[in-house]
Amino acid sequence: MIYVDANATYPVTPKHYMDVAALLQQVDGNPSSIHAPGRNAKVALEHARGYLAQLLGARSLEVVFTSGATEANNLALQGLIGRAALSQAERPPQLIITAAEHSSVMDTAQTLQGRGLCRLEIAPVLASGAVDGDALLAQIGPDTAGVAMMHANNETGAVIDVRGLSQRIMEFYPAFQVHVVGLQLLGKAGMTWFGSSGFDSAAFSAHKIGASKGIGALFLNAGAKLLPLSIGGGQERGRRPGTENMPGIVSFGLRCQEIQGRHGEVCASMRCLRDAWRLAVEAVPGAVVHAPSVFTDDRSLPNTVNFHIEGVSGDDLLLNFDLAGIHASSGSACSSSVARPSHVLLAMGYSDWVALNSVRVSFGPDGTVADVERMAEVLREVVARVRRG
Ligand SMILES: Cc1ncc(COP(=O)(O)O)c(C=O)c1O
Repeated sequence: MIYVDANATYPVTPKHYMDVAALLQQVDGNPSSIHAPGRNAKVALEHARGYLAQLLGARSLEVVFTSGATEANNLALQGLIGRAALSQAERPPQLIITAAEHSSVMDTAQTLQGRGLCRLEIAPVLASGAVDGDALLAQIGPDTAGVAMMHANNETGAVIDVRGLSQRIMEFYPAFQVHVVGLQLLGKAGMTWFGSSGFDSAAFSAHKIGASKGIGALFLNAGAKLLPLSIGGGQERGRRPGTENMPGIVSFGLRCQEIQGRHGEVCASMRCLRDAWRLAVEAVPGAVVHAPSVFTDDRSLPNTVNFHIEGVSGDDLLLNFDLAGIHASSGSACSSSVARPSHVLLAMGYSDWVALNSVRVSFGPDGTVADVERMAEVLREVVARVRRG
């Protein structure tokens, strides 16, 4: 099997399952209990928190474990806007998000607006997939509570200069809240600058780096205050109460420890596969690789190629890939079971047809050149067969 859907999830290796099981056998208490098994579990919990904090150059107390990035985004948006709504009784505060956001940000923001808790502004993206920073700055007003934006886009791989953009914002509006969706960059770039970036919060997900599904984290700046989504228990300093998901947390912590300092070599290998695949795609008549047009690490993820082929439906390509043991994805991976045009590609100016028929290939750290050669061969065969009708 050739698995090239790493932006959706990266499969857990059998070794990782065994490592997690071995660790859990020693620490399967409730971290809130004061007896020895509880204390051991608490130590394992704090080690895991420390490993993620280390990757982010953050303090351990700034890491809040959640069930994933979806919950982390909800916690930031609802907690942030919920607080702002409480303090601005007359008029709901304004929330700005970009047009390329994942549904866990887009739908949450729209729901908040529907409930009268915010006024939503959508900042446009450019044809490159980058946010139009000038347009975003122009949207900020005196009652803007904050902005939520992706660091790297899961569909196109476009990387946004969130640090530069937030510095421009904070120069004029120091009280402004900045939430960053940081998960697609974890393990694919050095992120130790994150903790001192001035961001208020950021969302991360464990299953994108080869850890278990159903676990993630919110980076919450030590100074940031938010309303929790659930009440009771007091775990995670009251910011996310409930007994901790120890199997997930142990798994997340282990992977954070393993990828520490390794992004350089991992990225070099992924970049090599991405570029080889991009060339193979571009060699097919009628193929168009979608933005970003510049494939450097400050503009694009090292592992992602999003493309379409004129006259060949995305479903035809994906189905034939699947039959050949190549597992890629279409549109937004998290909703790829629903045939909807990609809102990201639409926002970048592509047509409905392109937005519905795009294919995303996202390499993981274990891909090989032989994989790309096989994929290129299958691509050429499928396109020729479809075009013959
Ligand atoms: C950018 C982005 N945000 C949020 C999510 C949701 O993450 P989780 O599955 O951890 O809830 C995904 C998943 O693909 C994503 O790519």
